[in-house]
Amino acid sequence: MINIAIDGPSGAGKSTIAKIVAKTLGITYLDTGAMYRAVALHMVNCGKNPSVADDVKPLLNDINISYIKNGGENLICLNGRDVSEDIRRHEMSKYASEVSKIPEVRLFLVDMQRKIAESNDVVLDGRDITSYVLPNAKYKFYLTAKDTERAKRRFEELQAKGQEVSYEQILADVRDRDFNDMNRDFAPLKKTDDSFEIDSTDMSLQQVVDTILAKIAEIDGKSNQINDEKSSEDKQTKNKRTKVKHRWFYRGLANFVRWVMGSIWVTKIYFKDNFPKNTKAIAICNHYSALDPCVIISKLLGKHGKVLMKDEVMNNSFIGNIARELGCIPVKRGEADINAVKSILGALNKNQPVLIFPEGTRNRQGTKEFLPFKQGVATFAIKAKAPIVPMLYYKKTGIFKRNKIMIGTPFWLDEFYGKKIADVREEATQVIFDKMQELRREIDILVEKCKGSKKRYLKYKKNQSKELYANVGDGRQK
Ligand code: DC
Repeated sequence: MINIAIDGPSGAGKSTIAKIVAKTLGITYLDTGAMYRAVALHMVNCGKNPSVADDVKPLLNDINISYIKNGGENLICLNGRDVSEDIRRHEMSKYASEVSKIPEVRLFLVDMQRKIAESNDVVLDGRDITSYVLPNAKYKFYLTAKDTERAKRRFEELQAKGQEVSYEQILADVRDRDFNDMNRDFAPLKKTDDSFEIDSTDMSLQQVVDTILAKIAEIDGKSNQINDEKSSEDKQTKNKRTKVKHRWFYRGLANFVRWVMGSIWVTKIYFKDNFPKNTKAIAICNHYSALDPCVIISKLLGKHGKVLMKDEVMNNSFIGNIARELGCIPVKRGEADINAVKSILGALNKNQPVLIFPEGTRNRQGTKEFLPFKQGVATFAIKAKAPIVPMLYYKKTGIFKRNKIMIGTPFWLDEFYGKKIADVREEATQVIFDKMQELRREIDILVEKCKGSKKRYLKYKKNQSKELYANVGDGRQK
């Protein structure tokens, strides 16, 4: 099971970050703080003081915490009632901190948390996850920020919700809670030696998420390397030597091919930053020429990216070996190729991006209209809970042409998660098709109306949305 443990003081942004990380990786998010809040709420509802252990302990057996799915969110239920809003009341933060000092409460909740982590891929955030709940988790993070910054964030959050509290009061509360959480006897908040510390004071949300995803990829890379080294040690020395020699040869050629492709297949990439880094993703693109994938491999997918390629091409051992080094996965066309499916899902599970051409074949006429989409992309995106990154070549590509490609905003098919794939494949494929049509309109505006200038395009979009608001305004006045 994948267990990602994130600890840190209150207000460091753990839950927001953990939610995004979980969504990006397509795994569950467990907010353990919410569990302590639910226990505190139960005590308040029963008229008990959450800081008096003798009042709290007897009521623990009456508590049942469960979750219900609401779109992409997990709502927390206390004895069958959704309390997601109630537990966020300002005073609940203090009560949760009080109740969390009681060892019996901790043991009660830690047991639940361990059970969830045992049977689910999950990102957990809290105070004692790295040190006590899951000390052997493979990925451990300590997320912190200056207390003044944390108080500021909390203040703005509560203000936005219309709750009346002063910044000074919040700062005092944050400091109080830090003291409580770090100084309680049982499983206090602390940074363990093997946790990776991130100070988010001057970082954006996206920077923190990227740092965590990059660290996960690095940890995975290291353990893969250890496994590779171990298995190669087991092989006969002679065998090993010839294999390594060949591998280096083809790797070298593959790097050369990458470089050549990047140099002669001149392609202007718009919105390259939309391509997610260090995480699983299914990149989809329209397809005109056999060389289209090379540019995407060399400029976007990176070293770990994978791309499907007709197995006939890879049957030739020389080309096949180079293609494999370029990340190509052979696929038998016109039949369900179980090995290809396994390789794609395996790559996504290892957080590698995969390129798939949803049309399934080249558009030899070179028209801007798409050929019908195959349903594979939808299947993989739902199964692996992976984001889809739409990409579009403006028009028929070619060598020595100035090719243009636009990268759209990644999207998830999360409305189909948990449903039987056969029932939703068609509808999900239509969603993908519509997203690509939308990107077609955007790239046409960018290249034709805005003459290929990103600056003009952004200005055009800004004016367009202003106009839209103005029209809505007019409509209301009438
Ligand atoms: O993350 P939060 O603010 O929702 O947490 C509420 C309180 O619960 C916090 O003050 C400390 C406590 N807590 C804990 O002791 N251990 C955890 N794993 C999570 C939260």
